[in-house]
Amino acid sequence: MRILVIFESMFGATEKAAEAIGRGLAGAGPLEVVNVDKAPRDLTGVGLLVVGGPTHAHAMSRASTRKSAKGQVAYPTRSQTGIREWLDALDTVPAGSAAAAFDTRIDKPRVFTGAASLGVAKRLRRRGCRLVLPAESFFVGTGTIDAGLEPGEAERAEAWGAALGAALARAGT
Ligand SMILES: Cc1cc2nc3c(=O)[nH]c(=O)nc-3n(C[C@H](O)[C@H](O)[C@H](O)COP(=O)(O)O)c2cc1C
Repeated sequence: MRILVIFESMFGATEKAAEAIGRGLAGAGPLEVVNVDKAPRDLTGVGLLVVGGPTHAHAMSRASTRKSAKGQVAYPTRSQTGIREWLDALDTVPAGSAAAAFDTRIDKPRVFTGAASLGVAKRLRRRGCRLVLPAESFFVGTGTIDAGLEPGEAERAEAWGAALGAALARAGT
């Protein structure tokens, strides 16, 4: 059973979270952690699809928010495209595929920050996926725009990855 962890990331925090989720899933099956820029459109043969990105303007990024992010740092951002566009352009998603959604966002109540993962989960469900765990957020610091994951968040992401693997095993997929 192939496992795909697809991430979008501007400054690297969501990429770090995706890699940690991948570490947590190690042993659950052959696994790839893939930048959305290089993500496949055909998901035939994928047993678990995990999708995450940064929260921008309370939701998944758009071209305008990615442009704004790009303008705030002097280095190239990690992803040029977005998970919103990738999810909308997917060709084949096997019916009933196991899936999960995550995001990174500021460590404040969700009512103030929004959460990209809610939009990801909605789109995954619309494509006929079965969410194996509720959408999850991992928190970034606020010292600078690219402060990265808060201490302990990579470990929490790894534990969430392990929980996904356990939920899959329980479901017998
Ligand atoms: C244009 C822009 C809009 C943002 N809007 C929000 C927001 O509405 N809520 C929030 O919690 N964080 C917001 N953030 C902070 C991002 O969530 C943070 O930059 C992201 O989690 C970092 O992940 P990355 O390093 O993978 O890009 C915003 C960041 C940018 C650049």
